[in-house]
Amino acid sequence: MIETKILQIASVDADAAIETAVQVLKRGGLVAFPTETVYGLGADVLNLEAVKKVFEAKGRPSDNPFIVHIATYRQLEDIADEVPEKGKILAETFWPGPLTLVLKRTILISDLVTADLDTVAVRMPNHPVALALIKAFGEGIVGPSANLSGRPSPTTAQHVYDDLRGSVDLILDGGPTQIGVESTVVDVTVEPPVILRLGGLTQERIEEVIGSVQVGGSEPLSHRSPGTRHRHYAPRAKAVLVNHQDVEGFTAALQHYRQQGKNVGCIVNSPLLAKVETGVFFRVLPSSIDILARYLFSTIRELDALGVDVLIIEGVEEQGLGATVMDRLRRAAG
Ligand code: TXA
Ligand code: MG
Repeated sequence: MIETKILQIASVDADAAIETAVQVLKRGGLVAFPTETVYGLGADVLNLEAVKKVFEAKGRPSDNPFIVHIATYRQLEDIADEVPEKGKILAETFWPGPLTLVLKRTILISDLVTADLDTVAVRMPNHPVALALIKAFGEGIVGPSANLSGRPSPTTAQHVYDDLRGSVDLILDGGPTQIGVESTVVDVTVEPPVILRLGGLTQERIEEVIGSVQVGGSEPLSHRSPGTRHRHYAPRAKAVLVNHQDVEGFTAALQHYRQQGKNVGCIVNSPLLAKVETGVFFRVLPSSIDILARYLFSTIRELDALGVDVLIIEGVEEQGLGATVMDRLRRAAG
């Protein structure tokens, strides 16, 4: 066990906090940092001992590769061999932002980082703390979401602390994250490009700039996105998904689990279901999908912490960011 330190960026000298974090990374330590999507668990991409520590801290299966975070295009040259035309267009349009590109890797990037794939995932996050950290460090930083493997991604420094206390050296606390779900992972080494993981950048916006793409995560493609095979985003409670605005399905599920004597928590979002109940175990998220996504993981974590046995969650309309939210809810419900 190491002592985990938290530095609140708003209340300390930001330059000094970044310098402290750089020193931790340089000696092979782990630094959790805020991005616009979720918190990442950072380590020096070129230090294999440090990368191994990230797998251990998260309890992450070794067949699940990491995203390398960069702050400048110069850093990309050491990591990716070639960037296909559509990859360039996507990067120019959406970086820094919630987009991860899967590219052919250079020999500088170790098998450990890419889980033996011949590709590497790269992202330029849109957060001042993340960008300042990566620039000051100089090299790329591996940055999986800073949660225990299988748990919902962390959207606050406290979530990181709850999951990784004792195995991360330093947490840079930049407040709650803006988007709340992870980046969209797009493989641009194939034609047409494939969305391997839906995320904060919608399929619709991607298609506006490069034309139609495939959406993977389905069986024949899942070998190309190892992370999507594993159980994910799971609360400790049993998660049950009901359809958007399905009052009957919702009340039936509620009754069913209560009759079994279960402690039931609910997360709804439509005015229809919001009327069914009240109380601390019953949470109503805003129906605006951007705000819903921002608070989804933290609400799941809060209800988990209250010790519910079953968590009934209302689905959303499956378009735009709603498609990402439904992907996460289905995985949470296993
Ligand atoms: O928003 C995000 O992407 C956050 C923040 C911290 O940047 N990071 C994140 O990392 O979600 P992680 O490790 O939790 O998820 C990375 C995803 C996994 O699904 C992994 O399988 C996939 O990216 N991935 C990584 N390298 C890949 C590769 N070479 N080919 C295909 N998929 C890859
Ligand atoms: Mg993750």
